[in-house]
Amino acid sequence: MNKAILPVLIVWGASCVAPVYAADGKEIYDRVCYKCHRSGAEDAPRLSDKAAWAPRLATGKEALYKSAIEGKENMPPRADRPELTDEELKAGVDYIVSQVK
Ligand code: HEC
Repeated sequence: MNKAILPVLIVWGASCVAPVYAADGKEIYDRVCYKCHRSGAEDAPRLSDKAAWAPRLATGKEALYKSAIEGKENMPPRADRPELTDEELKAGVDYIVSQVK
């Protein structure tokens, strides 16, 4: 193989693998959670509203995972998408947390 091409392939390969996993939570958010959390539908705390998230973040990530999985007030259990796994829901929460900090 041409030695000049090898490093290019390695970089290309790494950039293909890494972002796919990192984008997971965002993808879940964009597919499912944004419906309420972007607009504030059903009184959902908006992604852009850090003040609304601060007291929720203070309860800890485990509590937020539990709310996403089991539901809380107007937040439906599993975001009304029973096909989502716990891991996918948690990735969605992780994405939200990373945006509202
Ligand atoms: C049908 C609308 C709706 C959808 C879809 C939705 N949410 Fe929510 N979510 C809400 C509402 C309403 C609340 C506020 C609940 C309350 O009164 O504390 C909320 C609150 C939350 C909270 C904070 C819970 C807490 O303990 O304070 C998290 C975390 C959350 N949602 C994550 C998600 C994730 C992740 C998704 C996508 C997988 C999602 N939500 C999809 C309506 C929705």
